[in-house]
Amino acid sequence: KEPNILVVGSLNMDIVIEADRAPLAGETIMGQHSSFIPGGKGANQAVALAKLGAQTTLLGAVGNDPFGTSLLRSLKDNGVETGQIKKVDHAPTGIASILLAEGDNRIVVVPGANDDCLPEDIREHEDLIEKADLVLLQLEIPLDTVITTAKIAKKFGKTVILNPAPARSLPEELLQNVDYITPNHSELGILSKMDQEGFDLNRAMEILQRSGVDNVITTLGSEGATYKSQESAVKTAPAYQVPVVDTTGAGDAFNAGLSYAIGMDKDISEAVSFASKVSALSVTKFGAQAGMPDRKAVEAFDTPPLNKDGN
Ligand code: RIB
Ligand code: NA
Repeated sequence: KEPNILVVGSLNMDIVIEADRAPLAGETIMGQHSSFIPGGKGANQAVALAKLGAQTTLLGAVGNDPFGTSLLRSLKDNGVETGQIKKVDHAPTGIASILLAEGDNRIVVVPGANDDCLPEDIREHEDLIEKADLVLLQLEIPLDTVITTAKIAKKFGKTVILNPAPARSLPEELLQNVDYITPNHSELGILSKMDQEGFDLNRAMEILQRSGVDNVITTLGSEGATYKSQESAVKTAPAYQVPVVDTTGAGDAFNAGLSYAIGMDKDISEAVSFASKVSALSVTKFGAQAGMPDRKAVEAFDTPPLNKDGN
């Protein structure tokens, strides 16, 4: 049976500009290409989940404007349940300004209506949490909303997965109600409050576990993902080598893949390896949502993972 997954999070219109390099302060340069495409960590993760086959609902907020309409359409076209997404009159739909240059992205998010995804909206839709097998969260909506959702989910005994992006430090009140957390390297640094000098990955992950999260999974880009559950020692799953077109949404793909696999009752090793495949496939295509693979593509993906020497 396919898992029922509730995503509570952001929807953004991604304004993507491709250029040879990033401009310096005060400088104007010419770019090659621009596009307006659907994004937002919450929406991206929801689309990826629906494409994998999960029964997926997104809770969030958009403005009462053309961007909002087009984001909702994209979600629906991909099979995400959008009926409870709020439309607000007093704030515009969220925007992400994304510069793609030299193989990297630089992103500025203006949350707009995402800031109107409030704790009371979640309380009003407790039934969606009760119905779900698993709840997936990120940090592009108000922190209070994230905390409220995690608490209600735990009250109903649901599994809670938190993608702690964009980076910020988090209260124990939240961490105690999270079962799986998926920082990247810099997010882990901020969450564990371990200073740069003397930073130790394993110890940083243990600090998070001591704050109340049983399973910590740190994504390391081309170096794979390092994970630790309460019972097991630290392990690393290698990354897959693929031709990179656009890494925007790679983290979202990873979190969707992980949540899907956990929702299918896979253990953490299997789930991390499935998530790595979903993420690898997503970077081979342009666009955060358009790049998300369906389950057939993941099943057909048989590139061997990189070994430790990167071969
Ligand atoms: O994770 C990628 C997403 O981050 C983009 O789609 C952009 O909207 C920002 O929220
Ligand atoms: Na992509």
